[in-house]
Amino acid sequence: MPLKRAEVFCRRFGLRLPILLAPMAGACPPALSAAVANAGALGACGALLMQPAEIGAWADQVRAQSNGAFQINLWIPDAAPVRDAEHEAAIRAFLGAWGPAVPAEAADAQPIDFAAQCEAILAARPPIVSSIMGLYPADFVAEIKRRGIAWFATVTTVAEARAAEAAGADVVVAQGAEAGGHRGAFDPALAERQQVGLFALVPAVADAVRIPVVAAGGIADARGIAAALLVGASAVQIGTGFLRCPEAAIHPAWAEAIGGTAPEDTTITRAFSGRAGRSIATAYARAAHAPDARAPAPYPVQRGLTAAMRAEGLKDGDVNRMQAWAGQSAALARAEPAAVLVEHLWEETKAML
Ligand SMILES: Cc1cc2nc3c(=O)[nH]c(=O)nc-3n(C[C@H](O)[C@H](O)[C@H](O)COP(=O)(O)O)c2cc1C
Repeated sequence: MPLKRAEVFCRRFGLRLPILLAPMAGACPPALSAAVANAGALGACGALLMQPAEIGAWADQVRAQSNGAFQINLWIPDAAPVRDAEHEAAIRAFLGAWGPAVPAEAADAQPIDFAAQCEAILAARPPIVSSIMGLYPADFVAEIKRRGIAWFATVTTVAEARAAEAAGADVVVAQGAEAGGHRGAFDPALAERQQVGLFALVPAVADAVRIPVVAAGGIADARGIAAALLVGASAVQIGTGFLRCPEAAIHPAWAEAIGGTAPEDTTITRAFSGRAGRSIATAYARAAHAPDARAPAPYPVQRGLTAAMRAEGLKDGDVNRMQAWAGQSAALARAEPAAVLVEHLWEETKAML
């Protein structure tokens, strides 16, 4: 039954095996997606931080190197942040101890124009678009449907899954609280309070919607894949588990730290961007949560404020000042070429099932 469900999903989306590379903003170079797609899985582009022209160039590069099986992903924008100059000044003073002095203007960082990114995605014509942090506007959904593009909507609760199905999503990606990177909660205020684990989320979502469910969060080996398929998923989406592949090309200090991170060594924090996400519990993440520390500013203000520290951390190879996202199964991530990893994961899963 689980293998049959996965097979139906694969046939519908032109895959040989039910494994999706997670869209990871800033960590999804074309070479990684091309390797994954050529292995029969689905590539991914986390386009949040990409200018429209970069989105088209990414798609061209992956198509030139593979069969073109990939998703392009955007964050649905939150309401504009409420600004507080006194609070921002206190955070700037705190961050000045972790990196270069932070100028006041750093807080003004603006996200890239969402409508222009949506236009670029339509022009790039990916087989699949995905969303996180909310739902695409109805007119964009109508445009992708007209072009035969499928919509995979990230959800973190049963209520979000129902809303995604009602809005026309073709697939829901159920993201458990184990997941590395930002949590996809539609309401930022609930991202920390409603942390549903994957083993409760997947069966509950599978019971609540008729569309296929993809499981994401803390899956990084065959045991996790087999278990997710058994509890109702049609496929799995893996992020952290791919970050040690050479094609991911993340900073070696981050890749090495992932290999040594136990589940309890990760933490949900707003300290990097203002939006809750799971990272390694680095010295900075821990300090930002000390009882006397000020709460982070909202997204994207906090992202702007931490930019200088994060850049210096990358330059110095200091993982304690990098944005070191990682899911709870980080230590299971293997340092293997992506195609080899995909093949091993699926062979081992089939043997288990
Ligand atoms: C470095 C990193 C960046 C991420 N960026 C995005 C993103 O831009 N859009 C998105 O939908 N999910 C993003 N995610 C979340 C993943 O899509 C996925 O839910 C998560 O990686 C699954 O958990 P795992 O890391 O334990 O496999 C990111 C995750 C990581 C680790």
